[in-house]
This record gives sequence, C-alpha cells and structure tokens, in this order.
Amino acid sequence: MIERILILGGKGGVGKSSISAATAVALSDLLPDKKILLISFDIAHNLSDMFNTEIGGKLTPITNNLWGVEPDPDAYAEEYTKVFAAKMKKLLKKMPIVGLIPQIKDFIDTTFTADSIPLALKNAMFFQKILDAEDTIYRKGDEEIDFDMIVADFPPTGNMVALFDVPEDTVKVVLKYSLNFYNSVRGSLQGVSKMFKKVMHPFEPTSNQEGLGEELVKMLTELEERGERISELIHNVGSLRLVTIAEKPSFEEIKRARDLTEKYVNLDGVHINMLIPEDHAKTCDFCGKVRSLQQKYLKDIENEFQHTKIWQSDKLIEEPIGLEGLRRLARAIYDNASAQEILYPK
Ligand SMILES: Nc1ncnc2c1ncn2[C@@H]1O[C@H](COP(=O)(O)OP(=O)(O)O)[C@@H](O)[C@H]1O
Ligand SMILES: [Mg+2]
Repeated sequence: MIERILILGGKGGVGKSSISAATAVALSDLLPDKKILLISFDIAHNLSDMFNTEIGGKLTPITNNLWGVEPDPDAYAEEYTKVFAAKMKKLLKKMPIVGLIPQIKDFIDTTFTADSIPLALKNAMFFQKILDAEDTIYRKGDEEIDFDMIVADFPPTGNMVALFDVPEDTVKVVLKYSLNFYNSVRGSLQGVSKMFKKVMHPFEPTSNQEGLGEELVKMLTELEERGERISELIHNVGSLRLVTIAEKPSFEEIKRARDLTEKYVNLDGVHINMLIPEDHAKTCDFCGKVRSLQQKYLKDIENEFQHTKIWQSDKLIEEPIGLEGLRRLARAIYDNASAQEILYPK
C-alpha cells in the first residue's frame, strides 16, 4: 500500500532529477524494509545517466529495495487504446446497422490510436495507472512489487499541472474522445440511413441494445471512480517539494508552481540547490560575488516560504552521479535527518 508519494517539481536544470534520485536512495538506505519506486516523467529521461545503468520503460532494480522506471507514455497509451478499441468494437457489433458496416472495424482501429492522445494525457494515464490502488502491484516476470513509497520526478510547471489535473477530469476527457467518435460514426451512418429511406438514430435503443448503454455507463463510472481515488490519494499521502536555485527565474517559477498546484497537493518542502559553499567564497573572488547574490535570493525565498520546510544543498565539485554520488548529494541536503524527517518535514 502506498504510504507516501513525494513529488519533485521546479524549473529545468535546477537539480530536480538529481534531488529526486538522491532522496529515493536516502530512503532506500534508511528504510530497508520499504519498497521504493523512483519514477521520472521527464521527457528527456536521465535516470540511466544518473545511475550509470540502463533504466527504461521496465521496472529496473537499483538497490535491494529501490526500483526505477522511465515510463514510455506511448507504450502505455497503446495498451490502453487497444483495450478501449476492442471494447468499442464489441459494443458496435451488437448494434443494429452499425454492426453491419464493414468499415466500422477499420474506423475504430484508426480513430483510437495512441497518436491521437496528447503527451500530457499519456503521461497522466501512466501516472494514474501507477497510483491507482488496484494497479500498484507491478509485474516483473513473476515477481510482484507492492510499493510503499513513490518518488516522482515531475516535468516543469505547465506539464506538472496537467498530471494533477487529468485525474480530476478523466471522465470529461474520455467523454470528449468518445463524443468525437460518435459524431464520426453518426456521419457515416447518415449515408446508410438514406439507403433505407428512413432517418435512423444510430443509438436508438432497441431490445438487444439495452445492455450496451449500461456497459458504457459502467466504463465511465469506473473511470470517474478511479479519478476520484487518485485525487484522494494525492491529497492524503502526496507531498510536493519544489526545487530551485538561488536565482530569480527559478524562484519565480516555484512561486507559480505553488499557486497552480495548491488545490491538488500539499506543498511541504522547498529545496534550494547549488549554493556556493562559504569556504570557497573566501578564496575565490568570483565565487564570493556569486555567493552574496545567492544569499540575497536565499533570504527572499525563505521569506516567501516561511511556513515551509527549506532544505539547502551546496553545489558539489563532483557531479552527483552513481549511487555514491547521489548519496553524497543526499548528505548535502538532509545531513543526518531521519527517514521520518525526510518524509514528513516539520
Ligand atoms: N548540488 C549539486 N551539485 C553539483 N551538481 C549538481 C547538483 N545538483 C544537480 N547537479 C547537476 O546539475 C545538472 C542538472 O541537474 P538535474 O538533476 O538533471 O536537473 P533537472 O532535473 O532539474 O533538469 C546535472 O548535471 C546534475 O548532475
Ligand atoms: Mg530532470
């Protein structure tokens, strides 16, 4: 059962992916009995580069209790649309007249394609699949993994909001797709109706059709319930952490992100990354100047996010890459904090 979902957001290049990975590694070290999933929604996936090991669309073990995945939104959308198209074909076959039109099958096959779904929705569909309580058991071969915690590396603000938004609006989106579809079918039916010299409504209920409407309503109800389940889960166990560097543009971005995500998820942490360490500022004039500007923004950020836990992390001389590199970054961020303090700050 999912106990906690940590979501990392912020502008590109500020260290979201690195901090997500470092956090997942730290939790995996501190909580050997918990199963942790690190998932990247970055289109330009880089988990593989960070861990120096190939991590793709399949669940990949990183440590004993940590797995990584870079979901391929197309692959999942493909799977989903296939199921949807199959259901539609079954439904339409049972319909009078419609079921007799030979082109219907081709029409469904070409209408319900993964290509017709926008990327944000594909990502959201995958996110929902992972978060959905009934769907969190991942199959890898014969092994089943029931995750306790998820660390999600989210895309920058605009696409991040889409990930939260779609679960609440799934039904509307699906309805829109279905309605487009119905309208197209209706168009092609008008020709047939004329042949019969009778204007027929394609979905006029007849006796053998009553079950169909019910089945459609059931599908939509299930989707609606799933959307509600996911929104509730994110409200209850979700935690948003915004990552920034001590510079204006990324500071502005996290303020926007805070306002736009307020209604979906609780913001309970801000990371200020890549700070110039004090000792370097003393020996290098350039570092000193950069540092004093950073310190000004640091104060502004602290002021703006007074009621939120703030974690600071220095810019490391060595890039935080590989398990050891990420552990170094985790120490720079969390120092000796306990798992409890990382999971539930303040
Ligand atoms: N504290 C840090 N010190 C040094 N390098 C860092 C630090 N945090 C991140 N990096 C490096 O900065 C680059 C961008 O980080 P990344 O996590 O990919 O950012 P994002 O996911 O926000 O685009 C990467 O090369 C990463 O290794
Ligand atoms: Mg990234």
